[in-house]
Amino acid sequence: MSPPSILGNCKTVLKCNTAGENYADINWDELGFSLVPTDYMYVMKCAKGDKFSQGSILPYGNLEINPSAGILNYGQGIFEGLKAHRTEDGCILLFRPDENAQRMKRSADRLCMPSPSNDQFVNAVKQIVLANKRWVPPSGKGSLYIRPLLMGTGALLGLAPAPDYTFLIYCSPIGSYHKDKKRLISSLLIITGALNLKVEDKLYKAISGSGGTGGIKSVTNYAPVYTAITDAKANGFSDVLFLDSATGKYIEEASACNVFVVKGNASFTPAIDGTILPGIMGKSIIEIAIDLGYRVLERAVSVEEMLGADEMFCTGTAMVVNSIASVTYKKTRMDYKTGPEALSAKLRTTLVGIQTGCVEDKKSWTVLVD
Ligand code: COI
Repeated sequence: MSPPSILGNCKTVLKCNTAGENYADINWDELGFSLVPTDYMYVMKCAKGDKFSQGSILPYGNLEINPSAGILNYGQGIFEGLKAHRTEDGCILLFRPDENAQRMKRSADRLCMPSPSNDQFVNAVKQIVLANKRWVPPSGKGSLYIRPLLMGTGALLGLAPAPDYTFLIYCSPIGSYHKDKKRLISSLLIITGALNLKVEDKLYKAISGSGGTGGIKSVTNYAPVYTAITDAKANGFSDVLFLDSATGKYIEEASACNVFVVKGNASFTPAIDGTILPGIMGKSIIEIAIDLGYRVLERAVSVEEMLGADEMFCTGTAMVVNSIASVTYKKTRMDYKTGPEALSAKLRTTLVGIQTGCVEDKKSWTVLVD
């Protein structure tokens, strides 16, 4: 199957009543991936051993939190990230929110936390998007990034699951994750400039084997990458590619995204085995690549194999699909295919097309917020 034309116009089939719609008074052309506070947040609380029941929409603002809360002392917290897009006809679409709900539940189980049910999660997301509707960017200008948090907010001193939990969702309108690298090709396709990655061979992101927490979206998985990213950025790189901690021979993931290598008509991505976050974007891209006629293999990918590949790209909710221009391992730099003919561009066009209602959603991945 061939991908939709990247220069084609959006042919949305949805129709929504947008009469009287108003937008927040901000410069929609200036959005990057930084916080723009919106009007409301969603908050739902529950005690250990109970179930989440009733949440509420509150004005967006600071939280009052006990100094001995589980999240502050022992990092008992997880998060999710998903997006709402506005179609050309003004409808608002979520992309696979049920996948985020399920991943949050798996993360919560690993950290001994109660979690909202799938329905509670998806309903809360819909409610907070509707409450912040004027912050959902106009079609083609970006998306509303939705950040659900689940944290132990009850007070304790000993090392144990917190007595109380808070599920909270806040939002921010965003543009491109790598804003400085954005290039608009058509209303449907924004090619983000390709990334230059450095392979990190001293610091690791997750412990090998299935016993660690690399496979869940724990808040504690993120700050440990700062040292490596800061050093890489100071040396002109865009991001860091981490290796497996057992042998240092296989690629795992970048700081906030899954990675794929392409050789001929096949694409390889490290198998999800406990050290790598099961990305919702990555999972979706695998299906789209197969539909486009590519063979996709989820298995160990060695540094040597990566250095011999034709193309590389990364996937994540925030960045969607981003091509990789080069990877540097020790003193070796490998350059990869980029641009509109690269597989990553075709995948991005299809995926963003589905998210924005421009490409028919044959897989029922989008959810209308109304
Ligand atoms: C996302 O892509 O949504 C993430 O959660 C990664 C985050 C570091 C921006």
